[in-house]
Amino acid sequence: MSEDVAIVTGASGGIGRAIVKVLNEKSAGELRIGIHYKGNAEAAKALQSEIENSFLVQADLSTARGRGVLLEAALKEGNPYILVNNAGIDKPHEPALNIQEESIDLILGVNFKTPLFLMRDFAKEMIKSGSGIIVNVSSILAKKALTGSAVYRASKAALEALTKQAAFEWGPKGLRVNAVSPGFIETAMTEAIAESTRNLIRQEIALGQFGSAESVALAVAHLIENDYLNGAILSVDGGMGL
Ligand SMILES: NC(=O)c1ccc[n+]([C@@H]2O[C@H](COP(=O)([O-])OP(=O)(O)OC[C@H]3O[C@@H](n4cnc5c(N)ncnc54)[C@H](OP(=O)(O)O)[C@@H]3O)[C@@H](O)[C@H]2O)c1
Repeated sequence: MSEDVAIVTGASGGIGRAIVKVLNEKSAGELRIGIHYKGNAEAAKALQSEIENSFLVQADLSTARGRGVLLEAALKEGNPYILVNNAGIDKPHEPALNIQEESIDLILGVNFKTPLFLMRDFAKEMIKSGSGIIVNVSSILAKKALTGSAVYRASKAALEALTKQAAFEWGPKGLRVNAVSPGFIETAMTEAIAESTRNLIRQEIALGQFGSAESVALAVAHLIENDYLNGAILSVDGGMGL
C-alpha cells in the first residue's frame, strides 16, 4: 500500500514551515510531507533537513505547468491525502482608487486561481481513493477593511466561498474541505509593517499582540483531525475579528 502524502504549498514561508512541523509531529513521522517552495530554496532545504519523511517540490503555482509539477510529485511519492493551500501573496498594496489590472492578475492568480485548480486536480485523485482533506489558508482581511487590501481581501473572500462550495460538492464523495483565517501573524509577510502601524493594529486585537505561525499550524491540524469539520472557516486572530 502506498504512503499517505500531505502537500503544503508555500512551505518555505513562515506559516507553511510551521504547518509542516506540526503535521510531522502529529503524525509521528507517518505522513510523507511534500515541502513546496517557489523561490526560497534555502528555507525549503533547511526545513527538509529537519523532517525525515519529506520531499521537496519547486514550482511557480500561478502557472498550469507548475501546478502539474506539484500533482505529479505527489502522485510519484504516494497517495495524495492532504492538501494545504498555504502559498499566498499580499502585495502590491493599492488604495481602491488606484487598483491596477496587473495586480488583479497577480494576487488573484496566486491566492485564488492556484488553490482553485489545485483543489480540483487533487480532489479528483482523492476521490479515486475515497478520502482526502483540503485546508485553505484565508485571512481575517476576507471580512475586514484595511486601506490598500482591496484585491487581497477579494482573493481571500473568494477562497472562502470556494472552500464552502467544494465542501458541499465533495463531502458526499468522502472529502472534507475547510479553511483557516489568520489575523496578523509574525512572518516575512508582516515583518515590514512599521512599529507605529503595529501599535494601531495591536489596539484592534483583543489579545493585544500578533500571533505566531505555530498557532495557525495548530488550527490547520485541528481542521485535519476533527472528522466532522467540513466547510468551516476557523479564525486564528486573537479576537481581532470580533
Ligand atoms: N502573515 C500573516 O499575517 C497572514 C495573515 C493572514 C493570512 N496569511 C496567509 O498565510 C499564507 C502564508 O503566509 P506567510 O505569512 O507564511 O507568508 P510568507 O512567509 O511570505 O510565505 C509565502 C509563501 O508563498 C509562496 N509563494 C508566493 N508566490 C508563489 C507562487 N507564485 N507559487 C508558489 N508559491 C508561491 C512563497 O514561496 P517562496 O518564498 O519560496 O518564493 C512562500 O513560501 C498566505 O496565504 C497568506 O495570505 C498570512
